[in-house]
Amino acid sequence: ATKIAIFASGSGSNFQAIQEAIERGELDAKVEVVVTDRPNAFVVTRAENFGIPVHTFTAKTYESKEAYETEIVTLLRDKNVEWIVLAGYMRLIGDTLLSSYTNRIVNIHPSLLPSFPGKDAIGQALAHGVKVTGVTVHLVDEGMDTGPILAQAAVEVVDGNREETETRIHALEHELYTKTLKQLFEK
Ligand code: GAR
Repeated sequence: ATKIAIFASGSGSNFQAIQEAIERGELDAKVEVVVTDRPNAFVVTRAENFGIPVHTFTAKTYESKEAYETEIVTLLRDKNVEWIVLAGYMRLIGDTLLSSYTNRIVNIHPSLLPSFPGKDAIGQALAHGVKVTGVTVHLVDEGMDTGPILAQAAVEVVDGNREETETRIHALEHELYTKTLKQLFEK
């Protein structure tokens, strides 16, 4: 099984979808640790429910990004983590992580990149009035939601309805992320 770390800052529904795919035997991977910069995020509860170790850190208590990323790299190396899977991790990845896990960090984003990078991509897309939006899985580089695209899938925006669009995007994310990780890890 491919050893992975999942980085998340929020609800963790993508983490849960990946963990459930692993438990169903659909994805040959093992989540060695969940890393979060938000100690109160719901992803922590989800990870505990699955019995998966959590590493929490508070960025502002460190001198620099390099300092907390160095701590994370040490932890990941210790656990022989091969891939970093970002699942709603709302922080830019710095040089320390990028140079230790070059082309081994993958991200999911709720838009058809390069449209609407950054925060609240769904809100940005609706505000723009697009009729089609979607989901992108990509390798991570130094930019915000940039890097080589691995997979995309589209979602129609029906009557600019936020709730409906959000529900469809999240369901599609869970499916596309698992499928793309499977292809990536089987290479
Ligand atoms: C997901 O929609 C993910 O694509 C997005 O955060 C959400 C996390 O949901 N990521 C980004 O916007 C990255 N720029 P989750 O915590 O329920 O998995």
